[in-house]
Amino acid sequence: MLKKREKFLPYALPYWDNQEIEAVEAAIRSNWWSRGPKTGAFEEAFGKAVEAQFTVATNSCTAAMHTALAVKGIGPGDEVITTPMTFCSTANVICHVGAKPVFADVLPQTGCIDPAAIARAITPKTKAIIPVHYAGQPCEMSAIEQLAAEHDLFLMEDAAHAFCTSYNGHPVGAKHTAAFSFYATKNLATGEGGMLATDDEELAERARVFVSHGMSRGAWNRYAKGGTWHYDVKVAGYKYNMTDLQAALGLSQLKKIDYMQAKRKEYVHLYQALLKGIKGIRTPVEEFAQGTPSWHLYLLRVKENELDIGRDTFIEELNAYNIGTSVHFIPVHLHPFYQEHYGTREGDFPVAEQIYQEVMSLPLYPSMTEEDVRYVAGAIREICTRHAR
Ligand SMILES: Cc1ncc(COP(=O)(O)O)c(C=O)c1O
Repeated sequence: MLKKREKFLPYALPYWDNQEIEAVEAAIRSNWWSRGPKTGAFEEAFGKAVEAQFTVATNSCTAAMHTALAVKGIGPGDEVITTPMTFCSTANVICHVGAKPVFADVLPQTGCIDPAAIARAITPKTKAIIPVHYAGQPCEMSAIEQLAAEHDLFLMEDAAHAFCTSYNGHPVGAKHTAAFSFYATKNLATGEGGMLATDDEELAERARVFVSHGMSRGAWNRYAKGGTWHYDVKVAGYKYNMTDLQAALGLSQLKKIDYMQAKRKEYVHLYQALLKGIKGIRTPVEEFAQGTPSWHLYLLRVKENELDIGRDTFIEELNAYNIGTSVHFIPVHLHPFYQEHYGTREGDFPVAEQIYQEVMSLPLYPSMTEEDVRYVAGAIREICTRHAR
């Protein structure tokens, strides 16, 4: 029996050192506490990293997604197709613009949206598709791009998990429109924060205005020397801009992203080796034909027919070992809001529901140690042995 560790091991933590502290201190000392030059520098540096032509920094991925749908003119009477296997915000933003979220089920192996299910969900009202690179696994973008082209649909990737995911040799963000998250648990974190990356210049221009109350461009530096006090409000925009304090963190995190990603990969390989062949669980897909995952999450599945416990009890038992986990996600169509407003029901998306019953996210982040990974894997082995059918 493993000796219970004293300190709780959370499922996610940000990675930082003195460089982040110094970067934020410098931003504070610069007196640019809201959007300023560091936000512009972060937009540029992040754009380079994902090979995007245009980038607009926001205060969340949710804000970036809402902005893109709004400036594309998607609204009442329109339908937008997305996956139920996502965080509520992917579907919420469709509601924010007054359009109808339409869900398409996912692929059993990865939990990413199934292109065949998208094809079946397309109607004359469909205006956009939002695939989600679930856990950082690349969606089948070639098939999705083809559907979008055939039906003239706006394609926006929810890349909240997908900074450092690549597809066909290019990073997610290099093509069409993608929204990234820098929430505290993400591979690159600024506390809260997001980025809209796009190859559509007009979309980028409109988005820049939209995230700053709809004020004409350049209004953010109207208090600087040479700045002008005048601005025009072109649309009733939102307060969605990033701040220089966040951008300072982002710039600092970008410098260490290679190290952080290497650590994630190292721990994933170790989990895969240590958990291989254990009865009662399934490890995630490691190799993808056309892409590489960012390994934002390490998704383990519990097979109830091989154990005398289900996922929920498994999580409680891991907790007793002082190990934190999370569940990504409660499928969106099962939430009361969606059931009440869009009539979705349990049973509508059986693959997503099956994955939801089985899945949990294990601790995975650069600041954990190899010993932590071995401890988690040891606890899982013990639980599976104890509960084998
Ligand atoms: C798949 C997915 N999409 C969107 C979001 C929203 O990101 P943010 O919190 O930056 O708005 C999240 C957040 O965790 C997410 O997991």
